[in-house]
Amino acid sequence: MQDHHTHDHHTHAMTLSERADELEEQMMHELNEKIATKSVLFGLADGKVELENGMSLLAKNPGKYFLMGADPRLPPMPEKPTLIDFFKLRFASMNHLLQSATHALKAGHDEKTVLACLLHDIGVVSFIRCDHGYWGAQMIEPYVDEEVSWAIRMHQALRFFPDEAAGYKYPDAYVKYFGPDYKPEPYIVAEYERARKHKWYGTARLICINDIYSFDPDAKVDLDAFVDIIGRNFKQPKEGLGWDNTPASHMWRTMMWPTRFL
Ligand SMILES: [Fe+2]
Ligand SMILES: [Fe+2]
Repeated sequence: MQDHHTHDHHTHAMTLSERADELEEQMMHELNEKIATKSVLFGLADGKVELENGMSLLAKNPGKYFLMGADPRLPPMPEKPTLIDFFKLRFASMNHLLQSATHALKAGHDEKTVLACLLHDIGVVSFIRCDHGYWGAQMIEPYVDEEVSWAIRMHQALRFFPDEAAGYKYPDAYVKYFGPDYKPEPYIVAEYERARKHKWYGTARLICINDIYSFDPDAKVDLDAFVDIIGRNFKQPKEGLGWDNTPASHMWRTMMWPTRFL
């Protein structure tokens, strides 16, 4: 402190009360600043199996506590967030979802199918890529018709299997993504075989048919076009997503506050 004092001319020029104000402000700032922690999953994605010890993190950040609420670096969520709020504040991209849903709407499909197309990849755009169909289905299960979540779960497997009669061929994009020799995992093959015999197979297949990357580069797609369909087909909980005590609530909370310590 003495050293700092003698070398800092700016400090010299300040009055005692100015310095006290500055110190207080600095302290307040540090008290507000919490330690944001990363879940193991974030490290796994960088090829590391690791978790920083809580006590050593505290020692490195004297006087600070762990973040247990909203991460100030992320857009703040409203108190009772809706699906639309998540679209706008937590989904990294919605263009693909809007394009799929627009395609389904123009093809004259029913609202359940349009909603399924609109939500089919929410796992990817907001949460976790791996097994995105399963995560996505689970996130919305309490709020949609069972057929919608079932179809979203199954589209992941069905995407790998052509159905010429339905007008669906193996995606060119998948050849580019995974190479020409890629074979889906056995559990995906088994899931496809089960889905094939299911009464809602057609709905899951319709997601695949409308699962396109760009149907018209000039088409204007807007979430506003789907607000009414969401309103009629997605049972928005009055407490807000995350606060409604369903088997999906913790997933929405995790998206809201992904860096909470516990
Ligand atoms: Fe998908
Ligand atoms: Fe997709």
